[in-house]
Amino acid sequence: MKIFSFTGKVLAGLALFISLSAHAQGSDDALYQSLGAKQGISNFVNSFVTIILADPRINKAFDETDMERLSVMLTEQFCQLSGGPCKYSGRSMDDVHKDLAITNMHFNALAEDLQIAMEKHQVPSSVQNKLIARLAPMQRNIVTK
Ligand code: HEM
Repeated sequence: MKIFSFTGKVLAGLALFISLSAHAQGSDDALYQSLGAKQGISNFVNSFVTIILADPRINKAFDETDMERLSVMLTEQFCQLSGGPCKYSGRSMDDVHKDLAITNMHFNALAEDLQIAMEKHQVPSSVQNKLIARLAPMQRNIVTK
């Protein structure tokens, strides 16, 4: 009888541990899920690069850029940043942008284009703001002018 009650306690403990980890996991990837997971992110990133190329404030910077690669890299980056299961495999933000003489005006223009892209894909504005907030700290690594 004793052995059953011990086993019971171990099982109850294990169940509690699993449910707590599942909860932690769930809250960690909440933003990723709200963005529509990998497919949702990839969809608005594709619109994002199209909008960037049509934006005269910043499109010159992308004249020689492989936009196919850029889409894949941005999708990975946003997926990881929002708590999704991806690993960004691109170059560091400092390295990529250091010779581009990017100003705050450029940075804000690009952030605005991202919002337009998410809007187009019906991402709620509270969710848009959360992704933008996670990108904001990168401004100091990207803006050099
Ligand atoms: C939050 C802001 C930004 C983020 C998260 C971001 C992210 C990225 C990423 C992930 C890449 C691909 C890196 C790779 O290929 O390994 C990239 C490349 C690039 N970014 Fe940004 N970027 C931002 C702002 C800007 C701004 C404001 C400009 C210029 C107006 C810019 C211009 C470029 C260019 C030209 C490339 C391609 C560089 C190359 O292929 O050598 N980025 N960016």
